[in-house]
Amino acid sequence: EVNRFVDSLMKKMTLGEKIGQMEQTAGQPMYTPAAKAEELVRTGGTGSFLFFTDPVRINELQKIAVTESRLHIPLIFGYDVIHGFRTIAPIPLAMASSWDPALVTRTQGMAAQEARAAGVEWAFAPMVDIARDARWGRIMEGAGEDPVLGEAIAAAQVKGFQGEYVGTPEHILVSVKHFAGYGGGVGGRDYDSVDLSEEQLQNTYLRPYKAAVDAGAATVMSAYMDLNGVPATGNKWLLDDVLRKEWKFKGFVVSDWASVESLKTHGFAADAEDAAVRAANAGVNMEMTTSNYRDNLADAVKKGLVKEAQIDALVKPILAMKYRLGLFEHPYAGMDHFKAVTGSAEQRTAVREAAEQTAVLLRNEGNALPLSAALKSVAVIGPLGDSKLDTLGSWAIHGDRENVVTVAQGIREALPGATVTAVKGVEIERGSATIFDEQVPPTPVTLTTPEAKEAEFQRAIAAAKSADVAVMVLGEAQTMNGERASRASLTLPGEQQRLLEAVVATGKPVVLVLMTGRPLDLNWASTHVPAILNVWYPGSEGGHAVANLLFGKANPSGHLTVSWPRAAGQEPLFYNRYLTQIPDDVAGRYWDMPSTPLYVFGYGLSYSKFEVSDLKLVSGTVAGDGTLKVSVTLKNLSDVAGAEVVQLYTHQRAGSASRPVRELKAFTKIALGANETKTVELAVKAEELSFWSPSTHKRALEPGAFDVWVGVDSSAGLHGEFSVR
Ligand code: IFM
Repeated sequence: EVNRFVDSLMKKMTLGEKIGQMEQTAGQPMYTPAAKAEELVRTGGTGSFLFFTDPVRINELQKIAVTESRLHIPLIFGYDVIHGFRTIAPIPLAMASSWDPALVTRTQGMAAQEARAAGVEWAFAPMVDIARDARWGRIMEGAGEDPVLGEAIAAAQVKGFQGEYVGTPEHILVSVKHFAGYGGGVGGRDYDSVDLSEEQLQNTYLRPYKAAVDAGAATVMSAYMDLNGVPATGNKWLLDDVLRKEWKFKGFVVSDWASVESLKTHGFAADAEDAAVRAANAGVNMEMTTSNYRDNLADAVKKGLVKEAQIDALVKPILAMKYRLGLFEHPYAGMDHFKAVTGSAEQRTAVREAAEQTAVLLRNEGNALPLSAALKSVAVIGPLGDSKLDTLGSWAIHGDRENVVTVAQGIREALPGATVTAVKGVEIERGSATIFDEQVPPTPVTLTTPEAKEAEFQRAIAAAKSADVAVMVLGEAQTMNGERASRASLTLPGEQQRLLEAVVATGKPVVLVLMTGRPLDLNWASTHVPAILNVWYPGSEGGHAVANLLFGKANPSGHLTVSWPRAAGQEPLFYNRYLTQIPDDVAGRYWDMPSTPLYVFGYGLSYSKFEVSDLKLVSGTVAGDGTLKVSVTLKNLSDVAGAEVVQLYTHQRAGSASRPVRELKAFTKIALGANETKTVELAVKAEELSFWSPSTHKRALEPGAFDVWVGVDSSAGLHGEFSVR
């Protein structure tokens, strides 16, 4: 039915109208003034906009499209719905730290509902780029360093945004990005070249994209940078051979912002026409923001540089997605529904629960946490403790910045009888927001003189001294991560380290609540601050969630999905590396520090005390079409109910190529009541033990001996062995 509809529509379309469908226009008036936007719609010069969020304006433009344009083809509105639309959930790296795909699906489902209610039908998410370098600002937007976890979170996000099928009511399309390898930029620098061997692509980097495509992703976004020397947006191998031919992708590819235009900058296209021709022939269906397609493709077809059949092939999936979304029948946002859904109690509950389940307890010496609810006074110290914008985190561009619960507010509400003082102590240089965040005015620095700075610093020390406990909320300003926000160092920005040390020196109990989009240098804190709770950027309900965690109403259960370095110089850092002549724990691989992480991949503490024991393998041998079945006993040895992430790692002892030291193969998050014991079963299909071998140039399961470990992080010690035959 879709095909019949699209074919009959295509027959009526001129070449110009087809090319118009292949253009996505920037909605911001600074790029496209209102009258120009309307004219483009009326004349069929654009098929899509990005960055409109106001349902009234969306409906106005849609009305022009469906009533005034010649063929009445509706527009599709796209937006960066990354971790929420108005109601903001924790950042994606936090969501992955839940190790709970069902939670991820639920949260992105809520984001989809809010966006769709406003008339936004398409999310530029999920970002499924594997990221192994904490310097990269966009590490906050992905699921971390591991391909197996990355696959699960990618598929969960697709399901959350799109629902069971494209066109599920109250759901939106995804755009899986940034195809491919964007996370591998040299030096952690944003936009930098990516040089990845085929082995790395096949075994690690491409896998989450493939999982997203298999989960039914409607669209894919081609990346900005070059992959192994060929810009991703003009990369026929990537977009055609791999994505369409091998993976059977049936949706459409949108370029990243101006990435068709930048084929010239890459030295890959000679001029605008060449850029359009190369992108179109490589398989980019829609050009984001620049107009190389609109300005050049019709002539290019006439010159025979692009076949009209190729244009048809590129336009059809765009029309098909509009049809499947139901836009031809129901093009408008319903204002009553928009008002009912946006910021509803259900939305708020979902993001609070998500924030509670994504925080990672990094240290808890002497059970410093949870804090007593009988405290009489709390000093909330640090530049992020009462900052609404930072609590939302980056890539929350359209987030409701008023209705954000900060940590200070959350603690105030949790302890109505106590004195809760919030003092910044120091300010962080925020810089300006990213180019996509132009609605956020740069936060001015108010402490401009050394005297004012010192007075504020001393206010913080005094607040700590007069309180029962100091809750220090430190980390990065939200502008410090996201796009164009790489960092060369990973230390606490500004004077925060000095503030932390000075507050600890008061002798008062100190809890460090970390807000960050990447691992930070916690060397000092990891031995001097008894309790460290990493809440990432927890979103709209962050303060309520953090208070629940601090006072024990919620129990931390997040586990890291990125190895936490000791210093930026260790990056890139990841656990599933290859074995070397000299093991990592032998001194001397770095002169000045161990080469191991400060906190390993998969790590996270709880207020419960869990023990994993009794590893049993159903069989010591796994057939090529069989399944490795393992069980362990998980005990909660405490009186506190909680949840633990049980993780299974394997190692193939020898293969046709070197095999990683360990690889995550299965995981499950298990809730246990006080003193409860459960048997946990984990299964790994034999085919999941296969790998793409650089020796044979194919993916295969190679018979041989394997180790298996089960535990609660990637250093799991509970060991067994099996063989694949
Ligand atoms: O979706 C984003 C992408 O991740 C980076 N460049 C801009 C796009 C649209 O905002």
